Amino acid sequence: MSVILNGAPQESKPGERLVDLLNRCGIQIPQVCYHPQLGPIQTCDTCMVEVDGKLVRACATPATDGARVETASPGAEKAQREAFDRILGNHMLYCTVCDNNNSNCTIHNTTRLLDVEHQEIPFTPKPYEADFTNPFYRYDPQQCILCGRCVEACQNLQVNETLSIRWEDAHPRVLWDGGAPIGESSCVSCGHCVTVCPCNALMEKSMLGEAGYFTSLPKQALNGMIDIVKGVEPEMGYGAIMQVSEVEAAMRETQVKRTKTVCTYCGVGCSFEIWTRDRHILKVEPADGPANGVSTCIKGKFGWDYVNSADRLTTPLIREDGRFRKATWDEALDLVARRFSAIKAEHGPDALAFISSSKCTNEESYLMQKLARAVIGTNNMDNCSRYCQAPATAGLFRTVGYGGDSGSISDIEQAGLVLIIGSNTAESHPVLATRVKRSHKLRGQKLIVADLRGHEMARRADVFLHPRPGTDLIWLSAVTRYLFDNGLARQSFIDQWVNKADEFRKSLEPFTLEMASERCGLTKDQLIQVARMIAEADGVCVLWAMGVTQHVMGSDTSTAISNLLLATGNYMRPGTGAYPLRGHNNVQGASDHGAMPNYFPGYQNVDDPTVRAKFEKAWNVTLPPKPGLDNHLMIDAIHDGRLKSMYVFGEEMSLVDSNANYVAAALEKLDFLVMQEIFFSETCRFADVILPAGPSLEKEGTFTSTERRIQRLYQVLEPLGESRPDWKILMDVANRLGAGWSYRHPSEIYDEIAQLTPLLAGVSYERLEGFKSLQWPVAPDGSDQPLLYTQRFNTADGKAQFYPVPWTEPSNQTDEEYDLHLNNGRLLEHFHEGNMTYRTEGIREKVPCTFVEVSPELASARGIESGTWVRLASRFGAVKAQAVVTTRVSGNELYMPMNSPVEPVNLLTSSSTDKATHTPAYKETSVHLTVLDQKGENPLPPTNPRYGHPTPQNGVEVERKWARSDYHPPGNGLVQIEARAAIPAGQEK
Ligand code: SF4
Ligand code: SF4
Ligand code: SF4
Ligand code: FES
Repeated sequence: MSVILNGAPQESKPGERLVDLLNRCGIQIPQVCYHPQLGPIQTCDTCMVEVDGKLVRACATPATDGARVETASPGAEKAQREAFDRILGNHMLYCTVCDNNNSNCTIHNTTRLLDVEHQEIPFTPKPYEADFTNPFYRYDPQQCILCGRCVEACQNLQVNETLSIRWEDAHPRVLWDGGAPIGESSCVSCGHCVTVCPCNALMEKSMLGEAGYFTSLPKQALNGMIDIVKGVEPEMGYGAIMQVSEVEAAMRETQVKRTKTVCTYCGVGCSFEIWTRDRHILKVEPADGPANGVSTCIKGKFGWDYVNSADRLTTPLIREDGRFRKATWDEALDLVARRFSAIKAEHGPDALAFISSSKCTNEESYLMQKLARAVIGTNNMDNCSRYCQAPATAGLFRTVGYGGDSGSISDIEQAGLVLIIGSNTAESHPVLATRVKRSHKLRGQKLIVADLRGHEMARRADVFLHPRPGTDLIWLSAVTRYLFDNGLARQSFIDQWVNKADEFRKSLEPFTLEMASERCGLTKDQLIQVARMIAEADGVCVLWAMGVTQHVMGSDTSTAISNLLLATGNYMRPGTGAYPLRGHNNVQGASDHGAMPNYFPGYQNVDDPTVRAKFEKAWNVTLPPKPGLDNHLMIDAIHDGRLKSMYVFGEEMSLVDSNANYVAAALEKLDFLVMQEIFFSETCRFADVILPAGPSLEKEGTFTSTERRIQRLYQVLEPLGESRPDWKILMDVANRLGAGWSYRHPSEIYDEIAQLTPLLAGVSYERLEGFKSLQWPVAPDGSDQPLLYTQRFNTADGKAQFYPVPWTEPSNQTDEEYDLHLNNGRLLEHFHEGNMTYRTEGIREKVPCTFVEVSPELASARGIESGTWVRLASRFGAVKAQAVVTTRVSGNELYMPMNSPVEPVNLLTSSSTDKATHTPAYKETSVHLTVLDQKGENPLPPTNPRYGHPTPQNGVEVERKWARSDYHPPGNGLVQIEARAAIPAGQEK
């Protein structure tokens, strides 16, 4: 296709927006409201161009073959200037004293582009005050140009549906929940709106008074300077004033550092730049993250205060006479080496065990397992994927061959139907959930949710199933059987690609609809509806998480999910597949890189002699031939006296492992415990030596997200005090034990990993530079696989296999004494036990402490109100918490967030585990509830977004602006108004 651009022919793609074509060709036109990831919003009118003599908005007009486009004709220029002049009527230009003057302000840059010297329409103040009620950002209506980018982002990208503009108002402004203070609205502080705002109307509070040379001046002085600027403008024109502000902006460049990093919280893998001035974090700026684009959630956008927290560990600590004292690195490392060597000499290498951190980098997990195997000589090595994801991995290994998501977030976005089981996705994987919410809202994607709680995704679902706890395997199997019985299975796919179909069909015999309905508490109609929706959908993706895996049958239910996908042919093509949502930022990577008792990096078996010989040769050692203890067995081994010493790195084991009292009793028995941590965690109480480690912002390395996406993080800040990046500490420990490692940079560690690991053979730091990423498996030539199984499954014959699974009764069921089921899991605002997120004041303001959710029925039966203190006792321990009465839970089911270092829910959970992987059955807990004679405030304060009242609408609804009597298109008025596309193309990240 060819378009004539300003007289010259130019190749164009069918349907390409003119604005994208112009940008691609380097032809500059103003485009204030346009953001490629939001699509055409059409509120600003500054992008007017002439197409075949007619004025059109370039952002909303697709290129057509042979079209003649003029960007600088008198008509187009007049319209562009007039439209921008209207914008300046809403925005005071005081760039030199503005915190947004950082060379990326759209208003500033457009003023320069159009050489604006004077405004026709003077700035008119609006009758509103700035709103500072959100802890993280403020809105200044005076500076708001009503472009609506924020509204579009909140409504149609984040899909929190908080923001709107009431175009009919005399003085429109952005509204939260239709007019509430921001701090009392449904705003979840994801930051999308702030990120996409083209000017300083929405700004991070951490930027205010911090970014510029003059912006920290007292308000009065600042206003005085603004008045001076305004005073000289009529005479000097904006050109000269802009030049001054550009000099100031250039000076800022010398002080403000922008560094790419990857989020340290959940497994979605959002990446962004962090802007810092010395150690002050000015802001998190997402732009083109391969997983997230401009998206973030509250934690990734605003949850970084912990890095500069006053209680960071900054020196090594050694326990002496029952107290910790500061020590030098030499003292600490010598002691670790001496004690490890002595314990190994006395009890053998298997008396030591190692836990790697799924918060730390791939390179660090690799070094940890190399330390355990090559230096100490044990396979007693694990990471916290055992606590959540191991069953999902097992289910996928059994059926399709790779233990990872079978596609990418873009596949989930494209699916005809998304089935979410046991995952509170909007809170646990917020940015990934936005893609589902968006496709559901704008593209007609169907959504089925099976969960115990009526959380946001359940509320949005077309079908919400609430099965009895622990019965997912039954209804999944019954649905699969129904599909077979009614000719709705994809037989051609099965014949070509799946082994053991007959055996599998036979195994489904017990799973009739009647049996499933009775056991699961679902109706037959519900099951048939689900089966039919799956059969009819153009591509099904199943998302699941800890609600499935943390059961005694977690691996089997994960297997049943994969069986269902195979039966319906929902593998091997875009928009299909299995998506176990990985919890921590690098829980996928920790396992991929060998922090497991049975695998070297890349899931190479430790008991395979050929594999072992390869590692023995590379590391020049003899390696232990048998799989070691996983972290569940380690606790038993300590109680049995077989395990004497542990090295725990970035893992709050005493709170996050199940049956915390039993775990604590074990840790107390250890002869020697080394902790490597950034804070004095609860587990540190049991330590003999504590090594001060580095958070992600203080080191380099790579993380692997849930999509199997490997991304680089760069060092933002220098290590605090005497703390060190973890890879250096691990090297120091190994070398004290005589290892002779000499890595100078994490890239050298990765080179070694790539050489030894076929799954990661083509990974290198060069290929991951900046925002580049790779999704494993990565071939030696660097080609990766965003979608797995396009040619074959990862099995010997290339075929998948059905894997029959029986149902197992859940453990710890309710009885007369322990009569309530206790569920537990994540919250949007906090991460795990909260060691990082409780250190961000704004997050604490939104969720100050833990609580227990109680259903209105139970509350009324027991006389409980929100704020009432209750005691929960299980067969294993007890905690106290305040109640929150909510319809998110129902009947005799309670829910407690896992985010509390004070009253951790794991004091209640048991030591029962998944049969195949030893993942604790956290979700199988029964408790007795005692109402205490104590009442306090509701632990979820009134400023929590869960109390808000969103105002859903389809984006900014610009048609209502165009319908105003005072609106007329700029220029000669001959504007061809394009209809808004249902969903902007090109956003499938
Ligand atoms: S939820 Fe809040 S922070 Fe996120 S886009 Fe909407 S208004 Fe902005
Ligand atoms: S606050 Fe919203 S409408 Fe106002 S300028 Fe920023 S993005 Fe545009
Ligand atoms: S969704 Fe996950 S990775 Fe993205 S910003 Fe939030 S916590 Fe970080
Ligand atoms: S960029 Fe605003 S209308 Fe096109």
